This record gives sequence, structure tokens and C-alpha cells, in this order.
Amino acid sequence: MSAISESPTRALNGLVTHGWNRAARLYNFPMLQRVAYRPPQDEIIAQLRIGRPRRIADIGCGTGILAARIERELRPDVVYGCDASVRMLRQARSRSDRVKWRNRRAEDLGLPDAAVEAVVSTHAFHFFDHAAALAEFHRVLAPGGWLAIVINNPRSRWAMALQPPAVRGLAYFPPPEVMRSLVQAAGFTVLEQRPVHRPLPNSLVPDVLTVARR
Ligand SMILES: C[S@@+](CC[C@H](N)C(=O)[O-])C[C@H]1O[C@@H](n2cnc3c(N)ncnc32)[C@H](O)[C@@H]1O
Repeated sequence: MSAISESPTRALNGLVTHGWNRAARLYNFPMLQRVAYRPPQDEIIAQLRIGRPRRIADIGCGTGILAARIERELRPDVVYGCDASVRMLRQARSRSDRVKWRNRRAEDLGLPDAAVEAVVSTHAFHFFDHAAALAEFHRVLAPGGWLAIVINNPRSRWAMALQPPAVRGLAYFPPPEVMRSLVQAAGFTVLEQRPVHRPLPNSLVPDVLTVARR
């Protein structure tokens, strides 16, 4: 299903999506995946093993590696993989025909209210309009449902240097305390924030997982 709507987005999200369309073929490069993207996905899978939700949505799913792993390794009843980029999703579709792939923005997922028991997202939240996306995650989550987001959280010392206001139309990486406030403001209870374990020193790639409950 493809239905990219006029929902609120970061100002330059159309440009971001265009960029990911162009990058789609390079994205699955094994070294890039192993170093950058696999560790947060491992962390999300471990988190999902705790709650054992049966209906799960991966938002900003890219080429679908995590959503397909969730489907294969955890065998829930349904997995949605949602992404704004048609070409990233093209790669995803070739990975699994059991995941329900959706060409939708995080801010307007097109799923019914309370459709899922867990919403997860890795390395994509910085591209979303945070308030609109979190409101949408709250809407599609059933009461008691889990939210698990991994984002590259620049330490506050670097935060401003890494993201001058001019770049914020493209992306903004909220530091952990800002992330906590955003998630709480959307009506969630934050359960935990913890660094993602990875082979590189965490100070180089300071990913943080935020887990919350609706
Ligand atoms: C760095 S990739 C991460 C992909 C995947 N989650 C992973 O960890 O491999 C970021 C993805 O976010 C998607 N994206 C950017 N803005 C989006 C939005 N507003 N709604 C949904 N997806 C979006 C891009 O198209 C891209 O596929």
C-alpha cells in the first residue's frame, strides 16, 4: 500500500526521502550493516523477547532487515514495516513476503487505532517530526503497548555542533533527556534508557535505546 500524505513532517523530509531512494542499493553493504545498524537491531530483538508482543510495527524500516528478522526470529502474528522511501521498501519486499510493507510516513501510518502492541524504530526517528510521529505511535499502540526507539544521541557537549539549526529541517538527534521529555509529552511512561552495546566504543557511536509504555 502506498499513500504518502500531506501529514506534518520535518521541513525537508521530501529531500531526505529522495536521498534514501538514491541510497537504497548501497544500504545493505555488509560492513556498514555490521558496524552501524546491526547492534541496535539486536537490542530491539532482545527487548521484544521480554514483552513478546504479537503485533509489531517497525517505523522507518528502510530495506527491512529488522522487520524481516522480527518476523523470522520471533514469529509474531503480524509485522508491519513502514517507510517513506519507495526504493528502500522495494529492497524490503524482496526480503520477506510475510511482513506487511507500507509506504507511509511515521507521522501518518494509516493503521487503525490500537493496531499493534509494539512500535520499534532504529536510526530513523531523527528524520521524523517528533511530536507528530510520537502522537501517531501513541494512536496505533494498544493500551499497555511498548515503544522502543534507538537513536544516535549526541552527547550534549557535541549536540549543538553536530546539528546547527540549518540542518534541523533534515534531521534532529535529541539528546537522551530531550528524548525522554518528548516521549513523556506524547503520553508515554519512559521505562528505561540505555546505551546500545556495539563493537566500536560507544563514545564514537553513542546510540541510546529508549523504552516506553503507552
Ligand atoms: C538510516 S535508514 C534506517 C533504516 C532501518 N531502520 C535500519 O536500521 O536499517 C532511515 C530510514 O528512515 C526513512 N524515513 C525518513 N523519514 C521518514 C518518515 N518521515 N517516515 C518514515 N520513514 C522515514 C528513510 O526513508 C530511511 O529508509
